[in-house]
Amino acid sequence: MSAGAAEIEGLSEGEARAELDRLQVEISRADIAYHQNDSPEISDAEYDALKLRYREIELAFPELRRADSLTGRVGAPAAEGFAKVRHAVPMLSLAKAYTDDDVTAFIEGGHRFFARDKDLVLEFTTEPKIDGLSASLRYEKGVFVRGATRGDGSVGEDITANLRTIADIPQRITGDGVPDVIEIRGEVYMTHADFQALKARSAADGGQDYVNPRNTAAGSLRQKDPTITAQRKLRFFAYAWGEASSLPADNQWGMIEAIRRWGFPVNPLTRRTASIDEMIEQYRLIEAQRATLGYDIDGVVYKLDRLDLRERWGYVTGEPRWALAHKFPAEQATTVLKAIDIQVGRTGALTPVARLMPVTVGGVVVENATLHNEDYIRGIGGDGEPIRGGYDLRVGDTVVIQRAGDVIPQIVAVIPEKRPSDAAPYVFPDRCPVCGSEAKRELNEKTGRLDAVRRCTGELVCPAQAVEQLKHFVARDAMDIDGLGDKQVTQFYAEGRIMRPADIFTLKARDERSLKKLKDVEGFGAVSVKKLFDAIDAAREPELDRFIFSLGIRHVGETTAAMFAKTFSTIEAFRETALSAASEGGDIHAVFPSIDGIGDTVLRSVRDFFQNARNVEALDELLKEVRPRPYVVTISATSEVAGKTVVFTGSLEKLTRGEAKAMAERLGAKVAGSVSKNTDIVVAGPGAGSKLTQAQSLGVRVVTEDEWLVMAAK
Ligand code: IVH
Repeated sequence: MSAGAAEIEGLSEGEARAELDRLQVEISRADIAYHQNDSPEISDAEYDALKLRYREIELAFPELRRADSLTGRVGAPAAEGFAKVRHAVPMLSLAKAYTDDDVTAFIEGGHRFFARDKDLVLEFTTEPKIDGLSASLRYEKGVFVRGATRGDGSVGEDITANLRTIADIPQRITGDGVPDVIEIRGEVYMTHADFQALKARSAADGGQDYVNPRNTAAGSLRQKDPTITAQRKLRFFAYAWGEASSLPADNQWGMIEAIRRWGFPVNPLTRRTASIDEMIEQYRLIEAQRATLGYDIDGVVYKLDRLDLRERWGYVTGEPRWALAHKFPAEQATTVLKAIDIQVGRTGALTPVARLMPVTVGGVVVENATLHNEDYIRGIGGDGEPIRGGYDLRVGDTVVIQRAGDVIPQIVAVIPEKRPSDAAPYVFPDRCPVCGSEAKRELNEKTGRLDAVRRCTGELVCPAQAVEQLKHFVARDAMDIDGLGDKQVTQFYAEGRIMRPADIFTLKARDERSLKKLKDVEGFGAVSVKKLFDAIDAAREPELDRFIFSLGIRHVGETTAAMFAKTFSTIEAFRETALSAASEGGDIHAVFPSIDGIGDTVLRSVRDFFQNARNVEALDELLKEVRPRPYVVTISATSEVAGKTVVFTGSLEKLTRGEAKAMAERLGAKVAGSVSKNTDIVVAGPGAGSKLTQAQSLGVRVVTEDEWLVMAAK
């Protein structure tokens, strides 16, 4: 989980749901503005931040994942950065079945549809549904020319360079019957072994954590740098095709056989089945092998074999009528709750974790489950409603756990009959288990209710918070200090080498004077120590926005930190303002300028941070060692666009929208998405429509792209 979303650990289920709903609206709005109106309302970075937070809430609260989720493979609009590819033959999704009865209904539907064709036996292929990402690979005269993601099914992204790094995908296909043009479709995935190896490598060098093979495969395919994709060991199974100048067979079975001959991996568990019983039997066989396959599958897919019959049966809203995905149920198991441990996060949130009797769920040994917060243990959901039938969780309880995909397991039920007679209700601690400070549930100023999360008030006195804060400080999206990962930070803290961020930068000087040199410590050596010191030195002049983010102020994520950096330009200015807000009688609204997108929660949090003398001292110590670079916004006093509100409309020919926006902002202008009486300049390219008319009727100055470039250059 990225440090920017660390607060997610503290959300109650209700808050998480509310936020997910809010993000859904915001992201959809941004999508429409970008894709349909071609008039982005927020920056790419802001968009990415919204999407990231959305995904992380989904990962932390998988049960809240909405049916119309914006993440995942289906329906995600093509993202910026990769060229768009329109699929000549759309990449469809599949209707889903969860029970044998659903499958029977599907087959009976087929029989009714073809009722006039006497003695027709409907044969289906039955094959695993691979839990990866679909891709379409275009071959012209046998040469791999372009590969694309599914995107929204009609338009995907051109990820040819990344797909070329996958050994399973042939660069050239030869042999009998290769059509002039053929698009091979299938699933890119990662094996469990490769995923675990990547995770281990990353943990060893303090890199990011990977959640599951599918997300990792998705992230790998979207790398701008194909050499990174190449290191991820992705694989491919072919199972379908798109545009084709001719076909080597008239059924799925023959097509898959031809595709196999051309050199693509096809799934070895694919069978041809001729009755409901055979299909269900095959489903059970595949389900039984699921845990030992070595890659994730989430069901099986039935596809009508004969291609001519497929055309007759047809399609409905983006799905073929002739295919069905039969999903596996979420995997469940029964075990015993051995203990409830409390973990303390960076911002002091006390998060309970269930320690379970180890049990295998879908081939994975589960020993822990998340418990969110004390209300959850008491059997109360985020909305105040009873959960798990209203049963609380007690140590000794027999519980049902569930694992969906690779997400953190959940306790979905308590078996009350199995509760030991002496099992006592769990008493949530009101003191931090690490430092002994009082742990409080704060009053949420917005809702007027108590927060679901109890927090340790020890702040940096609390070793748990201090270590988590240090991990956040050095993380990739914060100060990004290579060679200082979670493991090293924990070790250095325990040894007393690094207690606060400032200590990182004095480590080398202290080490030179020390008798117990770092290079002699197990796990280190002269080379790695030199590398570490070099990486630390390289971090002495951080970008201001990263630096503010790395301070770990609650509610100040990357986007907010960037807004502060932009507003204050220097760390001194930010510090001074925050300190006046923190001084007695300081009024946040009187001292902070109003910043678009920054509300009271953030400002109060900054004030609270600076009200703690220890935080200010830690910051000041740090500032003796590092010099954050002032955030440069070239508001050239001479630029006539400084302070103006600009709207871009129509198509631009010399600049991308992103460049145009960045250019305007660099010159101190504000970019808006719609024209109003507050608009100063409208830059109109060919095809400008209602915005241009609006500008003309309001008498707003309208310029061409070239005129804009001249203005901007002055
Ligand atoms: S066939 C016309 N076969 O499932 C049907 N899809 O829900 C085209 N998938 O986007 C898809 N394994 O990513 C098909 N053996 C398989 C599959 C499979 C996984 C995925 C694929 C697709 C999604 C549809």
